[in-house]
Amino acid sequence: MKDVKLSIFRQDPETEKEGRFVEYTIPYVEGMVVLDAVRYVEEKIDTTLAVRWNCKAAHCGSCSAEINDKPSLMCKTRIETLGDRIKVGPMKAYPLIKDLVTDVGSNWKSVRRVPAFKPKEGLKDPWRMQQVDIERSKEFKRCIECFLCQDVCHVMREHYEETDYFGPRHMVRAASLDMHPLDDLSRSRFLNEEAGIGYCNITKCCQETCPEHIPITDDAIIPEKERAVDITYDPIARLIIGRKSK
Ligand code: SF4
Ligand code: F3S
Ligand code: FES
Repeated sequence: MKDVKLSIFRQDPETEKEGRFVEYTIPYVEGMVVLDAVRYVEEKIDTTLAVRWNCKAAHCGSCSAEINDKPSLMCKTRIETLGDRIKVGPMKAYPLIKDLVTDVGSNWKSVRRVPAFKPKEGLKDPWRMQQVDIERSKEFKRCIECFLCQDVCHVMREHYEETDYFGPRHMVRAASLDMHPLDDLSRSRFLNEEAGIGYCNITKCCQETCPEHIPITDDAIIPEKERAVDITYDPIARLIIGRKSK
């Protein structure tokens, strides 16, 4: 493979209503990832190309995009896995700022609305936790806030305005707080009544897309849905959990 043909979405919101894909030809270097190719275009061909990235190590979650229409991290996707014709576009679930850069600011509003960590009363310093109690919520801490799970979710992509669903990333965060061994709240009622968890129909696309392989649906969304049902319909659980729930 000598050259790579790369079609990149370009749009200047001030001058163009609709964007378009522009094809660039760049020299292939062994081991190259999509972000290398996009940065080659930015540095050597057209410096006005807007692209967001930071770590180039799949840790910061900045370089999320749609590569051949699949939500992916540009720094984690090798060119040789894609063939020699590659399409790179912005995430579609978020408003476009320019080219490959989208406005993911709505996530910070959702983060602020999820009830924060509330330690159990009477905890003495230092707080102690058993390793076995930490395991469950530990997997959620791997989240790098790339928002690819939000981008792939059909509820977020197609029905965001009507549903007000917070999206899978925020279900992961709420579950990580709910399963924290020293937290004293249940957020299931909040997720059911305000964060729209009922709109998730368990397609598991978010789980399959997550670059950190977090079992989003199996370990966060389904348990939270089950608790929400308990609080709503089970009178005993309602007495026990409902008192503390938000
Ligand atoms: Fe990204 Fe996975 Fe976190 Fe979603 S849960 S924001 S896909 S790391
Ligand atoms: Fe969306 Fe994941 Fe549910 S993709 S519908 S949040 S299982
Ligand atoms: Fe940080 Fe890709 S540049 S995750």
